[in-house]
Parts: sequence; structure tokens; C-alpha cells
Amino acid sequence: MTRILVIGSVNLDLSAAVPRLPQAGETVSGAKLSRFPGGKGANQALAARRLGAEVELIACVGNDANAVEALALLKDGGVELSRCVVDANADTGVALICVAPSGENNIVVAPGANAALSADRFDLPVAEALICQLEVPGETIALSVNNFAGFVCVNLAPARAVDDIVLTRADLIVVNETEAAWYGDKLSMCRGYVATTFGKKGAELSRDGKRVAKSTPPQVDAIDTTGAGDTFTAALTLALVEERTPQDALEFACTAGAVATTKQGAQPSLPMRALVEEFSNAS
Ligand code: RIB
Repeated sequence: MTRILVIGSVNLDLSAAVPRLPQAGETVSGAKLSRFPGGKGANQALAARRLGAEVELIACVGNDANAVEALALLKDGGVELSRCVVDANADTGVALICVAPSGENNIVVAPGANAALSADRFDLPVAEALICQLEVPGETIALSVNNFAGFVCVNLAPARAVDDIVLTRADLIVVNETEAAWYGDKLSMCRGYVATTFGKKGAELSRDGKRVAKSTPPQVDAIDTTGAGDTFTAALTLALVEERTPQDALEFACTAGAVATTKQGAQPSLPMRALVEEFSNAS
């Protein structure tokens, strides 16, 4: 079984299903509120686990009831959490999410304890792949990426300045269209693969500035896109480490991401590998 290490965020998602996404200064009423475990790190860890990897997550939570709720599905799913840090002086991260009937969302994150995940609070275990995102301190990501011996995937989300080592050391960078525009030419510093996602239009994989694979996901009835990018990131990393071809790996990741949009909430919607394969065989 492929062993994947994820270093990243844990949030409790307060998710409002809204008739439409509010504009600046606007109040939209009539929402239905739900609570789901989330956070890009936690979502990517559980996604990789459900897709068949052995997974460890290193994260930081507060000593509060939200942490219990936020970690529940990771524990049930068998994600190793023994190196997770509990910071008694911080609150567990919370994400406020609005989801439109089309499945589109917008997200505001209060990082809380995620901001306290410094590299001196954990040792780096051995694994075949490391996945990071940008919801924990940049220095922690830079040090971890630099000291890790295996395959490194960095999901540059949410977009913000990163140490050059993060871009030069990554074997795989994952960005959506907006993030790709934000980083611009800096992405060419990556010597590995760069995957760019375009929502329901699919994704492309490039290397040395040349496109090596392109895929369109199966058509699904999307109801909530929260966690779809996280599923894509985990699936693509796993498939490349399993030495599937770039085209095969991208198709698997696009299908997994699309399936993740068919249920509400980040973690409840993360698909098992068998379900992704069912969709792949049907399309
Ligand atoms: O990528 C989706 C995630 O982003 C949500 O679960 C939310 O917690 C934010 O971190």
C-alpha cells in the first residue's frame, strides 16, 4: 500500500447552502446551515485514504469541541493522527462556506490553531509521498518539503507567496485557474509536473512548459464543489506515485474530483476508490 504523509490544515466547516452567493455588502437569507469536518490538509489526507493509501496527517488543532468534530471522519477512516499537535492556546480552525445551488462556493477561513503548526512541533516520518497546501505556516511547508526524501506534491491553495524551495523541490504542483494566474511565470520554476484545474471543464498536466496530458471529467450533477480540488490533488499524487501514466493519472484525478461534487460537505463527499473506478468504467 502506498504510504502518504499530509502536512496541513484541519478546519470545522460551517457550510451554508444559499439560494445564491452574496455580493459584497449584500445579505442573503434563506440558507440552510450544516457542519462538516474540513480543512484542505484533512480533506486531502482522507481523500488519499479512501482512494486506497495508508495516510498520516500532521496538523494542529485546539483543545476544544470543534477539534473532536473536525477529526471524527479522519479517525473513523483510519488516518494516522499520532503526530497531530494540540495547542491549548488556540481554537481549532473554522471555515465559513457559502454553497450555491450550482455547487459553486466561496470560503473564508479563520486559521486558529493551523497557524501554530511550526516545524519544531513534529518530526518528519518516512513516506513515499508528501502532500502540502498553504493553510499552515509557510516556513513549516518550506522546511518539510526541503527535508522530505520522496515524491512531493504542493497544492498552492490558497494562493500566497511561498519560499522558492517549495516551487523548485515539488515533483507536482496543483493549482486552479485563479491560482495559476496569481503565480504566473513563477510556476515555471517547478521541475516536475504542474497540474491546472478548470472546474467542470477538466484539467491539464504540464512539464517544462509543455502539456503532457489533458482530461475532461465525467458529467455529474454537482451539488457542492467543496473538497473537489482536494480530492483531485490526493488522487493525482497517488496515481503518479503508483506509476500510472500522466494521462491515466489525470483522468483518475478528474473523475475522483467530479465524484466528490455529488454530495454535500467536504469530507462526507470524498469518494472511495471503487466508486471512482465505477464512474471511470461508465464514462
Ligand atoms: O478545499 C476546501 C476546504 O478549504 C474546506 O474544507 C475549508 O475548510 C477550506 O480549508
